Amino acid sequence: MRLRLIRSTWLAEGVVQLEFADPAGDELPGWEPGAHLTLHLPNGLAREYSLCGDPADRTRYAVAVQHDAASRGGSAYVHERLRVGEVVEVDGPKNNFALTEAPAYMLIAGGIGVTPVKAMAEALHARGADWRLFYCGRSRTSMAFADLLESLGDTIVHADDDCGGTPDLGKVLADLPGGALVYVCGPEPLLAAVEAELDDPARLRVERFRAPERPAAGEPADEPFDVVCGGGRRFTVQPGASVLDTLRRGGLDLPSSCEEGICGTCETRVLAGEPDHRDFLLTDAERAEGGSMMLCVSRSRTPELVLDL
Ligand code: FES
Repeated sequence: MRLRLIRSTWLAEGVVQLEFADPAGDELPGWEPGAHLTLHLPNGLAREYSLCGDPADRTRYAVAVQHDAASRGGSAYVHERLRVGEVVEVDGPKNNFALTEAPAYMLIAGGIGVTPVKAMAEALHARGADWRLFYCGRSRTSMAFADLLESLGDTIVHADDDCGGTPDLGKVLADLPGGALVYVCGPEPLLAAVEAELDDPARLRVERFRAPERPAAGEPADEPFDVVCGGGRRFTVQPGASVLDTLRRGGLDLPSSCEEGICGTCETRVLAGEPDHRDFLLTDAERAEGGSMMLCVSRSRTPELVLDL
């Protein structure tokens, strides 16, 4: 869909909130906390941003974007070039980080990772759920929604500059209520620290900004395999090439965004064969089921994969 940027507001140092609406004033598709939009920016880049507004307000979508010093072109474009009134191609909302039923919730946000977590905290607060939030960042002035989240209830805001350094996540995760799910969104070191501290990985739900580094050594060399699409069209995926690129070179028009296995845009149903999953999205249960795969990173354990394309 094409949406107009109707408002741009500073939320914190280096963080701008963008609000989009349908140019004709039509109602927008609904969404649940944890969902994101993919913005196709006029400079050709596609970027995912979590929705952080009110899901009940179907007249607008809000996302928050931090100016990333190491920007690969997305946040820099948003901050320096995108102007109110412009119309942008948008995909979504899509949700890879949905709240599932649990007796209690521990939410952990690092920096701009607060955006999906803010919508979750508001929803859990509204439904009277048992939840707590730990929100960490470099300095309070750069942490969007800090005051709002503190006002909701059981929220700890930890700014490294004010608190004398990085947080003790062992303490944060101690004494979690039985059955509590842990939702975390933030930079990779925070996700790794939470993973290391948590005794039961099945309790963890993660939303990543970027794919973590893959170990370079010790991986077996990739083998070629065939992909079969609708109408029996067959393509050979060579080592070093992705399924996505191979199919595009073969003339298929396929959507993608992150091309790192973290956004789900290229998820495709698998009709036969066993994928070699290399994404950072699917759960162990979803992988075992083998019902879908991310074409941008995953490969095949069988000589042939049949895809629903
Ligand atoms: S394009 Fe994002 S998971 Fe494939």
